[in-house]
Amino acid sequence: MASEQETFETQTAEEILKWTIATYGPRAGLASSFGMEDMVLIDMLAKQGGGLTLFTLDTGRLHEETYQTMERVRTKYGLEIVAYFPDRQAVETLLRQKGLYSFRESIDNRKECCRIRKVEPLNRALAPLDAWVTGLRREQSVTRTDVPKVAEDADHPPMVKINPIADWSEQQVKDYIEDHKVPVNPLHAKNYPSIGCAPCTRPVEPGEDIRAGRWWWENPEHKECGLHRRG
Ligand code: ADX
Ligand code: SF4
Repeated sequence: MASEQETFETQTAEEILKWTIATYGPRAGLASSFGMEDMVLIDMLAKQGGGLTLFTLDTGRLHEETYQTMERVRTKYGLEIVAYFPDRQAVETLLRQKGLYSFRESIDNRKECCRIRKVEPLNRALAPLDAWVTGLRREQSVTRTDVPKVAEDADHPPMVKINPIADWSEQQVKDYIEDHKVPVNPLHAKNYPSIGCAPCTRPVEPGEDIRAGRWWWENPEHKECGLHRRG
């Protein structure tokens, strides 16, 4: 895929999405947490007439505003959203044994919660698919600087992972949203540039890193929940 990869690098996000729809159709999933990057991709997808499987991992700990944004996507774009929930028994056992905020106690406990609420449901979401599309951007963190636009997913081989806006800046995302009147999660206006689960996300201060509000009690190099371990 080496020379193909160079070709993808020079393509626009719209071109990559178009190629994804033509190549995989619904066997490719657009993974969305309904943050601003994902809203750009959803808008582009709708403008191309849909054709991918739009899925979300509903961890059970999301903000009310995120559910409102999800519902706006459903009504504005008329796209079906496939939600995956965590395994009931795993959550019940976790809560019974460790309580509601175990993720604050250690990195291992945090990863355990992310594994149960995000990673295992992601594996179920990916099982029927051949490719998945994400809103990852290289600028987002030290763990994402090398994210390719299209490559085999090292965590889920031979699945292909497609990151059409990998090279976009935050300003490009904001400009697209403004130019195309894309609805966004109201939390962005309250200084939440990156939105995950409610108890693990807080607003950032002016000048702080865009992911500073995610798992703010951990070091930047630990701040991946397992969805994107290797970019
Ligand atoms: S995370 O790994 O730290 O949570 P982040 O919030 O930056 O990821 O989102 C990066 C990309 O991962 C999103 O653009 C989206 O494609 C995917 N993603 C993150 N969270 C979810 C979710 N709950 N459901 C579906 N996809 C998600
Ligand atoms: Fe659990 Fe927080 Fe991870 Fe959400 S982000 S799955 S609440 S540890």
